[in-house]
Amino acid sequence: MTVTIRPWWKDSVVYQIYPASYLDTNGDGVGDIPGITSSLDYIQSIGVDVIWVCPMYDSPQIDMGYDISDYKAVYPPYGTIQDMQKLIAETHRRGMRIILDLVVNHTSHQHQWFQESRSSKDNPKRDWYIWKPAKYDAQGHRKPPNNWRSNFGGSTWTWDELTQEYYLHLFCPEQPDLNWDNLETRKAIYEDAMIYWLDMGVDGFRVDTVNMYSKDPSFPDAPITDPNAEEQDAGLVYCNGPKMKEILSEMNAILSRYDAFTVGECPNTPDISTVVDYVGASAKRLNMVFQFEVVDLGQGKVFKYKSKPFNFQLPELKEAIDMTQSFLTHTDGWTTSFVENHDQARSVSRFGDDSPRWRERSAKMLALLFGSLSGTLFIYQGQEIGMINMPKEWSIDEYKDVDSINYYRMVDRCSKNDAMELAEAQASLQHYARDHARTPMQWSTGFNGGFTADDTPPWMRVNTSTEYINVQDQLKRKDSPLAFWRRVLSMRKQYNESFVHGNFELLDASNPNVFSFVKRRGNRVAVVVCNCSGSENKLPYFNGLDNSKIVLGNVDKPAVTTLQPWEGRAYVLSY
Ligand code: NOJ
Repeated sequence: MTVTIRPWWKDSVVYQIYPASYLDTNGDGVGDIPGITSSLDYIQSIGVDVIWVCPMYDSPQIDMGYDISDYKAVYPPYGTIQDMQKLIAETHRRGMRIILDLVVNHTSHQHQWFQESRSSKDNPKRDWYIWKPAKYDAQGHRKPPNNWRSNFGGSTWTWDELTQEYYLHLFCPEQPDLNWDNLETRKAIYEDAMIYWLDMGVDGFRVDTVNMYSKDPSFPDAPITDPNAEEQDAGLVYCNGPKMKEILSEMNAILSRYDAFTVGECPNTPDISTVVDYVGASAKRLNMVFQFEVVDLGQGKVFKYKSKPFNFQLPELKEAIDMTQSFLTHTDGWTTSFVENHDQARSVSRFGDDSPRWRERSAKMLALLFGSLSGTLFIYQGQEIGMINMPKEWSIDEYKDVDSINYYRMVDRCSKNDAMELAEAQASLQHYARDHARTPMQWSTGFNGGFTADDTPPWMRVNTSTEYINVQDQLKRKDSPLAFWRRVLSMRKQYNESFVHGNFELLDASNPNVFSFVKRRGNRVAVVVCNCSGSENKLPYFNGLDNSKIVLGNVDKPAVTTLQPWEGRAYVLSY
């Protein structure tokens, strides 16, 4: 048997697309599959190799398609199966690859399987989901089986009147969890959600909430971290259950028949050895995962939105990146580099400065920073032009995400409509909400930014920044963030041994403003220095940092001993 040391996905750059918000070609205010197909030349011109299409399956859209009612059908406003076949073919014709989202921890409550499961206790599909009898307290009040809090607030258990039992849902009540202990269920998931699309030609999957399928059969209570609440954060209890390794090996046996690629979403996993069990090359389960240490920075520990903007220090970001990068040095696993996706606010607003003065400079600095990290690089639609969060003056009604809405309503309810608490909640959402990633792609100027016709109401309001942040403008400018991203990706390909495969060595770890690191593979050595602040800073001294060795930077005239605000530089010392 030959061992492939460099599978295709290691050097690939993946571009993530959120179908609802990419490009509307049929004038209904919702993006669609033909919109993605017609943008493939643009996407390829950025320098990416793979597209990842977020859920485009049929769905009642309670959680924007992460609640699937039919794995083998396309959500009609997005298009048809024929549109998907065309997208797959057109992607491949350009020499690119395409991956889909695999959402199989749960289905929609409207999925036929759940409809049958909930219809009676003796339905053959009853055991395809997780049903439990009620508990009763000393006063005889009905209680859910345990104290787990759902990812979107409230209990993870919903009472079903018809059959007088609770069912489990780690997300919304409309997203019941599948029972992975049932082998028949697993087989149906593999057939409908994986094999059907692999046979159609997709090249792999981004695997949603990959570590939640298997639950501890005793369904233990979570420790109390919020003494005032009935429900408790239970992520560490319900993630990484006892059968996870078995399930992922089983999935891998199917995926490897197709040489398919997998990147799993792996929250709540501080124990690195668990991650290695999933992504180690010898383990043969997943190719890589998304860890959360970077994107969780600054968010609240008990409730993610109970926090203040910019609630972190640079050394914490360095440590988080160091942790994910160290996989390459200390394990046989592979890692990812990413700072944006559809669940995160815009990186320029969170880790840079989105004011007119520093917006583009800091967007480029972040491109350089994340584009020179090892592992497979993921960028999210709009990140390549430095899109920013929604304007602060927008009202809370512009937020459409179930997670944002539930949080705001909870604060409203618990604080009894206290104006200060609501203002705090809004300020946090203005900084961290998932909605910021979901506003339509900004293609040009104009009311709807070229996403849809200007007289069509888009499903989500177009960020008014489209007047000065848009693709059309940036395609014309050599100094745009888009032009810079192209240079980052070509640098990454040219010096891939250092930037994609090199070992990461953090320098000057405690420096509160400047982030510096070495990328080394054998005697190929690169150094990246980023001023992550709006003030001038001294260039840290490292042997051999000579301006003639700079291969890419985001200011015109880099000084010899100082860094300008938000300046980033990559040096190649030897290659
Ligand atoms: C993670 C997805 O990225 C997110 O958007 C979704 O809400 C949950 N999983 C539930 O599927």
